[in-house]
Amino acid sequence: AAIEKGGYDHFMLKEIFEQPQTIFDSLRGRLDAKKGTLTMGGIREYAEMLSKANRIIIVACGTSWHAGLIAEYVIEELCRIPVEVEYASEFRYRNPVVGPGDVIIAVSQSGETADTLVAIESAKEKGAIILGICNVVGSSIARLSHAGAYTHAGPEIGVASTKAFTAQLAVLCLVALKIASEKGSVSAQRFQHLLDELEQTSDKVATALKLDDQVKAIADKYKDARDFLYLGRGYNFPVALEGALKLKEISYIHAEGYPAAEMKHGPIALVDENLPVVIVATKDSYYEKVVSNIQEIKARKGKVIAIVTEGDQTIPPMADDVIFVPSADEIVAPIISVIPLQLLAYHIGVLKGFDVDKPRNLAKSVTVE
Ligand code: G6P
Repeated sequence: AAIEKGGYDHFMLKEIFEQPQTIFDSLRGRLDAKKGTLTMGGIREYAEMLSKANRIIIVACGTSWHAGLIAEYVIEELCRIPVEVEYASEFRYRNPVVGPGDVIIAVSQSGETADTLVAIESAKEKGAIILGICNVVGSSIARLSHAGAYTHAGPEIGVASTKAFTAQLAVLCLVALKIASEKGSVSAQRFQHLLDELEQTSDKVATALKLDDQVKAIADKYKDARDFLYLGRGYNFPVALEGALKLKEISYIHAEGYPAAEMKHGPIALVDENLPVVIVATKDSYYEKVVSNIQEIKARKGKVIAIVTEGDQTIPPMADDVIFVPSADEIVAPIISVIPLQLLAYHIGVLKGFDVDKPRNLAKSVTVE
C-alpha cells in the first residue's frame, strides 16, 4: 500500500498532488492553444444540436454537483443558453418537465451513481439529449449517454473527491467553449484567451500546491474550531461549497458554504471570535463586493482566512490568514482556488487523527438510492 501511495501518507494527498498532471491529461489531445483549436471527439456529432439547445440541465451528486454549479456560470456566460443544476435525487423523483430540445449533462466521477443514472434514463426516454462527463471509461452513465467527454483523472481512491473535481471543471470548460464556438456566442479573441488560460491551469495548480506547508500551519491553528463558514461569490461560490464539503467529509467539523452576499440573511448571526471564515476572494468581477463582505466579518470579530490573488494588497491587512494563489481568468479560477481548500481539509483531518482516505459513513460510489 505504501508503494501504491507513491511516497505520500494517504491516497488523498497523492491525488491532490497529481492534479497538475490530471488536468493536463484532461486537456491533452483536445485543446491546442498554439493552433487555436479545440477538438472534442465525443461530442462532434452533437455539437450543432448542443448549440441549439433550449436549455441545459446539469444533474449530479456530491462534489460532481459542485462542478456542475460552476459549469452553470461558465456555460451561461459563454454560450448564452439557460442552465439549471439539479441534484440527481431531486430531479428524478419529481416528474420534471423535460423533453426534446433539452440537453442533460450528467457529471459523475464513477459513472455509476444510482440517482444520476436513473435521472438520465428517464430524461432520455422523454427525448432529451444526454451528455456524460465521467471519469470511468465504459461506466453505466457513459454508456447510456448519447455524447460525452471523459475526464482523464485516473482512478480516484480517496473517498473525498479531489482530482476528479478539477478534471471535471477543465472538461466542462472545454465543453462550454466548444458549444460557444459552434454557436458563435464567444468572440475569436475571448476563445483564444480562454484556450491559453486553460492551458496554463496545470502549471498554476502546481504553483498553488507549493502552499502545502503554509496551509498545514493554518490547519493547525484552526483545527479545534467547532464550525467553519466558507464564502465566495460568482464562480467562487461553488468553490466555497466544495471547501465546506471537503472539511465535513474528512475532519467531521461542521462547515457551511454560502454565497458571500447571502451571509447577511442568516450565517452572519453565527459570526464571533470563535468562527473561522474561509473566504475565496480572488481578483474577479465580484472582488470589490467580497472586500465589503470581509469587512462585515471583521466588524463581528470573525477570523478571516482569505484565498486571494498574488499581488493583492487590499485584503491581506484585513485578514487573519492569507493564502496567495496565481492569477487566472475568472472562468478557470476555481480550478486553482479550490487547491488550498482541499489541502486545508486534508491537514485538519490528519491532525485530528482521522482516516482521511476512508471517512466514516461515506462510500466512494453510491450505487443504491
Ligand atoms: C459519493 C462520493 C463523492 C462523490 C459523489 C458523487 O458521495 O463520496 O466524492 O462526489 O458520490 O459521485 P460520482 O461518482 O457520481 O461523481
